[in-house]
Amino acid sequence: MKELVRLEGVTKQFRNASVRAIDGISMVIDKGEFVVIRGPSGSGKSTLLNLIAGLTFPSEGTVYLDGEAPRGRERWAKIRAEKIGFIFQAFNLLPTLTALENVQVPMLGIIRNPRERKRRAHELLASVGLEHRMNHKPAELSGGECQRVAIARGLANSPLMILADEPTGNLDSTNSLAIMALIKRVYESGKRTIIAVTHDSIFTSCATRILFIRDGRLRERAPVGLEGH
Ligand SMILES: Nc1ncnc2c1ncn2[C@@H]1O[C@H](COP(=O)(O)OP(=O)(O)O)[C@@H](O)[C@H]1O
Ligand SMILES: [Mg+2]
Repeated sequence: MKELVRLEGVTKQFRNASVRAIDGISMVIDKGEFVVIRGPSGSGKSTLLNLIAGLTFPSEGTVYLDGEAPRGRERWAKIRAEKIGFIFQAFNLLPTLTALENVQVPMLGIIRNPRERKRRAHELLASVGLEHRMNHKPAELSGGECQRVAIARGLANSPLMILADEPTGNLDSTNSLAIMALIKRVYESGKRTIIAVTHDSIFTSCATRILFIRDGRLRERAPVGLEGH
């Protein structure tokens, strides 16, 4: 099946909020797409990613993932564990674990053999250029290195889809470029769908689609250079 994500009339109204964070979004994202989501602060970007991952539930409408409309927290947790990798602005690494251990966290319960988990984490960290930092904890790593660990962790379960929420938001421009190049490489290595919230324009060159969100509503525009086509 080509389709990976489908939203049908999805609205999210948080309790105590006067406006809808997401206001009637319908869209389809196919497997293999690299979708960039842009929009001002507070426009609903993170809420949209959270809805796609079942981390928050719609007030109205339905989210389908890989042909299924998952029901309940447990089902969603299983789907996330098997199919979705996350990369966050704040890295969200566990501070007491080393890089090697952090990357293994999503594998727990999925890859039974501890030696196989370690081998795979090792390989992933090497692939993001961190073989010399595997036994360091987040506090001993730079921001750019932490985000590399987080990307390796995001790939741990060979997810169908990667959701990245402002992955370079906490990085200086040099590290941002390196992280974006890495995410681009992950995409170009194939098989994966990426949905990235970002203001960084470098992604524009490899995005298959750019979505703009404002006040919880989507507007679609062709990637730069393809306008008018
Ligand atoms: N857990 C929450 N409870 C109440 N309001 C929220 C919550 N999360 C987000 N919002 C509100 O929803 C809107 C969209 O937020 P968000 O998706 O975080 O925007 P963005 O990621 O584009 O900055 C904002 O008005 C924000 O204040
Ligand atoms: Mg956000």
